[in-house]
Amino acid sequence: MGNERVKTDVKGLDDMLKGGFLPQTANLVEGPPGTGKSTLGMQFIYNGIRHHDEPGLILTFEEFPQQYYRDAASFGWDFRQLEREGKLRVIMTSPAVSRSDVESVGGTIETLAREMGARRILVDSISHFDQLAEDALDLRSVVFSFINALKREGLTSVLTRESPVLLGGDEEEHSIAYVVDGYIMLRYVEIESAIRKALLVLKLRGSDHAKDIRQFEITDHGIEIMSRFEGQEGIMSGSPRRMAEAFDQAFRPRSG
Ligand SMILES: Nc1ncnc2c1ncn2[C@@H]1O[C@H](COP(=O)(O)OP(=O)(O)OP(=O)(O)O)[C@@H](O)[C@H]1O
Ligand SMILES: [Mg+2]
Repeated sequence: MGNERVKTDVKGLDDMLKGGFLPQTANLVEGPPGTGKSTLGMQFIYNGIRHHDEPGLILTFEEFPQQYYRDAASFGWDFRQLEREGKLRVIMTSPAVSRSDVESVGGTIETLAREMGARRILVDSISHFDQLAEDALDLRSVVFSFINALKREGLTSVLTRESPVLLGGDEEEHSIAYVVDGYIMLRYVEIESAIRKALLVLKLRGSDHAKDIRQFEITDHGIEIMSRFEGQEGIMSGSPRRMAEAFDQAFRPRSG
């Protein structure tokens, strides 16, 4: 039991996580629009059902539920079929959540988790909780009680969160980072006139993990993590530079 892991089966990711997520933990996947947060989360749920026979739940705040099924289908993941098999439930909630919605959705999750024996959940995205909170501290406590309820049900969760800005971060984001067990950052990077995607495991409580920044792609099969970025620095801050250039800039004596 001690070193049991919840595998994502996302190519390259489990290695970075030294086997996978820890059971009954909450794991944040944070990044700007279109970086692949939902894809990573859906893949975690799909693989859990298909490869590990672990039923899953998806809580989404999408305004257009059909789109959610369609996005999954574009990777070959037939969510409607999984629902028919009783292995998946997609819970759709209005984007304008209130505190009482969160309580009632919590009740639904609890009931479904018990009925289906669900082991995994994707919450896409917890950014929708922002509007419930008065400030960063309040938000932290809302999210904290929510994820604790998930843990009590024995669920291992992936929570997605949009970066409020394209580059860098802000305080609210960091406040959520304290209450989650795992934190994966996705970023766009511009290298030699092309936009690529980068992934970093920022933290994984109770475990070792890869500390380097990896390049990844979204393919027809979902996310695939590739090589590390060689000779680049400043990637996660959004302004990668060639290492040598950066050194040069930092150490060159200023003229004039
Ligand atoms: N079948 C596919 N093959 C390759 N890439 C795809 C495919 N389907 C979607 N994509 C890519 O995935 C991106 C969307 O990923 P995803 O929806 O997971 O991002 P997200 O981070 O959840 O975005 P948002 O913040 O808008 O919710 C698209 O912009 C597209 O580039
Ligand atoms: Mg998304």
